[in-house]
Amino acid sequence: MRFGFIADLHIDINKKRKRGDVLDVLLAQTSEQKLDVLCIGGDVSNDYKETLATVERIEQELKMPCYFVAGNHDLWNIHYPSMKTWDIYNDLKSHPRNLANGPQQLTENWVLLGDIGWYDFSFGNYKKYTVNDFIRMKMKGSTWQDKEYTDWADHAVEIHNLFLSSFKEQLVKNENKKIIFCTHVVSHHLFTVPTPHRIWDYFNAFLGSGEYERLASTTNNVRYALCGHVHFRKKVQNNNTQFICSSLGYANQWRSNETKKEMQHALTVLHLDER
Ligand SMILES: [Fe+2]
Repeated sequence: MRFGFIADLHIDINKKRKRGDVLDVLLAQTSEQKLDVLCIGGDVSNDYKETLATVERIEQELKMPCYFVAGNHDLWNIHYPSMKTWDIYNDLKSHPRNLANGPQQLTENWVLLGDIGWYDFSFGNYKKYTVNDFIRMKMKGSTWQDKEYTDWADHAVEIHNLFLSSFKEQLVKNENKKIIFCTHVVSHHLFTVPTPHRIWDYFNAFLGSGEYERLASTTNNVRYALCGHVHFRKKVQNNNTQFICSSLGYANQWRSNETKKEMQHALTVLHLDER
């Protein structure tokens, strides 16, 4: 089976930056790579309805499953100011390909599971900042935008703990399979922005959690841990687990002007029958 993974398409923002062809290029690349399954690691857009419509369009045009997890941008209420984050999360979950609905058996041996995950501030620099600084989500006039556009009704660390315990349960139940574990948030410390850094000593706190790395590394048979959120494309091997961050990111962060080239670079293809 040829399994494709990509995160952080940001189709709405990239459209505004005259890269309206992101989705067309993804569809073309998916066909060209002869993928059997696609998984999107969150942040399709800032509008959950557009995110759902995008997943639908991919499935209809390619006639194959397009699994996904939500990203923090997909959960933003910027277009729906009266909506709470759990309402948007649940509307996204109503789509059967959302991994929030539970593990998906891809083949006899392979299982795909995951969800957005959240952050517990553990990637922040505690020599410079306190937990109360991170809770504020504001530093030197800059605000982490989840502060403005998400409203979970609970502390960020509580939300992270909810996802973490759900992941633990799902992973243990599937230890007899080969597992692909997908989060939106960063699941490996080497995917945070290198420090010391004037801004990211603080903002790394909102990228993910080292607990996902520990969980994936210590659970039997997690062959791949996939994520996005930070706009990197990197791979790291921890024992039997390959951690992959595979983000398309914003057009103004790309190294080239060619959407196709960027898509080819960002799209991870795994050959599941060969491992
Ligand atoms: Fe994100």
